[in-house]
Amino acid sequence: MIKASFAAARPEGAHALAIVVGSDDLLHDRLGALPESARTLVVRAAEAQRFDREAGAVAEVFVDDGGAARRVLLVGRGGADEAMGFERAGGALAARLMTSGETRLVVEGSGLDAAAAARLAFGAVARSWRYDIYRTKLPRKQQPTLEEVVVAGAGGEAEAAFARYAALLAGLDLTRSLVSEPANVIYPESFVERARKALEPLGVSFEVLDEAAMKELGMGALLGVGQGSTRPPRLLAMRWSGGAQGTPPVVFVGKGITFDTGGISIKPAAGMEAMKWDMGGAGAVAGAMMALATRKAKANVVGVCALAENMPDGNAQRPGDIVTSLSGQTIEVINTDAEGRLVLADAMTWAQRTYKPKVLIDLATLTGAMIISLGHEYAGMFANDDDLAAKLDAAGKASGDKLWRLPMGEAYNKIMDSQIADMRNAGSREAGSITAACFLARFVEDGVKWAHLDIAGTVWADKAGTLHDKGATGFGVALLDRFIADNHES
Ligand code: BES
Ligand code: MN
Ligand code: ZN
Repeated sequence: MIKASFAAARPEGAHALAIVVGSDDLLHDRLGALPESARTLVVRAAEAQRFDREAGAVAEVFVDDGGAARRVLLVGRGGADEAMGFERAGGALAARLMTSGETRLVVEGSGLDAAAAARLAFGAVARSWRYDIYRTKLPRKQQPTLEEVVVAGAGGEAEAAFARYAALLAGLDLTRSLVSEPANVIYPESFVERARKALEPLGVSFEVLDEAAMKELGMGALLGVGQGSTRPPRLLAMRWSGGAQGTPPVVFVGKGITFDTGGISIKPAAGMEAMKWDMGGAGAVAGAMMALATRKAKANVVGVCALAENMPDGNAQRPGDIVTSLSGQTIEVINTDAEGRLVLADAMTWAQRTYKPKVLIDLATLTGAMIISLGHEYAGMFANDDDLAAKLDAAGKASGDKLWRLPMGEAYNKIMDSQIADMRNAGSREAGSITAACFLARFVEDGVKWAHLDIAGTVWADKAGTLHDKGATGFGVALLDRFIADNHES
């Protein structure tokens, strides 16, 4: 990621200069940072490129700046109604300059308030994130050059306004790294150690249950998923206590299948490599804890990750096996590929019994059906409480991690009944995301407000987006951080 800083005036020396233009701005008025002689050229160049000032639109031109060839970028931020205009502008600038040869981007910040300047810098840094550690032979032209973004001349509070975004970026970095790593690097034990290294120094306390501890407690559902792998499962709890003593924590639970082959109900080979990111829910929970702890959030929050690898093996569970969950309810495993709900069931029961939360939110790359329903734009939301759903919806809109609520109900729920056990783990293909949510609902204890976010379509992107490159998006981190900030901090 590039560095962000804020300066009173435009620095000397080599840099690309960016000027932010809103839909209603008079273009000429925004060009005060340029030599008089260059302004007309820039206006004409913008017109020639059909620069329309939409959020993220960029026009580029070189001008003579005191004898130096200065790269000038006009970047649109859309109209006043464009909530994400500044993030998108920052993201577009970073995307444009990442491998351009420029090392420093200076954004002309006069006229921007502190909040806008901070959001723009956030967008640029978020979009600049890449994971190049395994690329040993990147051609020179493809190597990133951009190192920093400086916002010059914005309101004096910009630096302070950026602090919460710096925390969010630390969280995004952790989540995206965990999600990007292959399954020979990130497996249950190494996930725990990576999260520990990032979070313990910030004052987050760790509790880890190994197989023996889970067996002792009776987590038959989670253990059944992990039993076909030589990488033993783990249950991880990360606790941040920044709120008033005695206030019950908000609990996040993440699906952490470090690789999902499907198990004995094995998946087809094509595309199976994508299942390294089947721990995206757990990754988002770890990243959210990182953001909260970095900015010392005044809230009590526990992040629980249900970590296992789903493999076919002589010892793997079979279709038809019946497991007893920690809740005491029995589950007929119709399909070993419906494993996420099994690990979540035990993690949810354990988290509720251990921490007595009033609010429980789980995040999971739970169903392929979610991608069929909503594609890659929205994550699916299921909730047993309208107020919690409304709060999450608002946090989604504000953070850009958008949610769309889907229904549940008894007609769907009864599809999960089993002939022989209390429930089965897979129904038919119809409404697959909803029946999965109904399965999870059976593990929510009385009085707990619960939401389930099916993030199968939003964890990974095959195309670059406004705030991320191709690959891990970090979906969920900004959402959870915002949800806590708006609803659980004094
Ligand atoms: N991890 C998958 C869901 C998934 C699939 C996420 C594709 C992202 C992309 C999950 O464990 C799974 O396999 N679900 C099954 C459930 C079915 C067997 C009831 C599915 O969606 O097909
Ligand atoms: Mn699966
Ligand atoms: Zn899975």
